Amino acid sequence: MGKFEILDHPLIQHKLTIIRNEKCGTREFRQVVNEIAELMAYEVSRDMLLEDVQVKTPVEVATEKQLAGKKVVIVPILRAGLGMVDGILELIPAAKVGHIGMYRDEETLQPHEYFVKMPDDIANREMIIVDPMLATGGSAIMAVDALKKRGAKTIKFVCLVAAPEGVKALREKHPDIDVYAAALDDHLNEDGYIVPGLGDAGDRLFGTK
Ligand code: PRP
Ligand code: URA
Repeated sequence: MGKFEILDHPLIQHKLTIIRNEKCGTREFRQVVNEIAELMAYEVSRDMLLEDVQVKTPVEVATEKQLAGKKVVIVPILRAGLGMVDGILELIPAAKVGHIGMYRDEETLQPHEYFVKMPDDIANREMIIVDPMLATGGSAIMAVDALKKRGAKTIKFVCLVAAPEGVKALREKHPDIDVYAAALDDHLNEDGYIVPGLGDAGDRLFGTK
């Protein structure tokens, strides 16, 4: 079974409170989402594999460590996932970026896929799907389906705010993937919004309604 971790470092909790506030405007929202994503990337990459390498320091030749694991692909679910990409690239600048376009029907809450663009050879890469919100879990499940269908083997899902309903659904459908959230909120309301949540993440990031 993959793990489910809440990354509740004090800085993450503090920044999450800033973006939950309805008075937080687009500019600050966008900046702080990236800051949280960067802090989360630090924890999400903790299990990266290392290998020994010889390095000649000014003093002597030493055996030290360098990254040896699979190359990383960051996969934002459009649109809102885009808001987390730059923050993660700050820590993993060599990562490639794949895109999955998906929107949730406001009436049925069912996700619809409209775009998928991945780098080559995703079977041998570590895929990190990012989306600020895990609500019913429908979009996350469909995104993981899309990557597995194309051969991906190692997949992590990283969100800011998760609803218990979405965590349960995602882990039931894809028990093999690791799921990380900055917060586990209380529940979903009848409109499919996370409570207390932060509203519509895509609208708040991009200033649309
Ligand atoms: C939001 C959010 C997730 C999805 C979560 O996107 O960014 O992708 O809803 O809901 P779910 O877990 O119930 O599927 P939305 O469909 O509003 O699209 P957007 O990113 O373009 O705003
Ligand atoms: N998508 C959002 O952007 N916010 C929610 O609360 C639920 C789904």
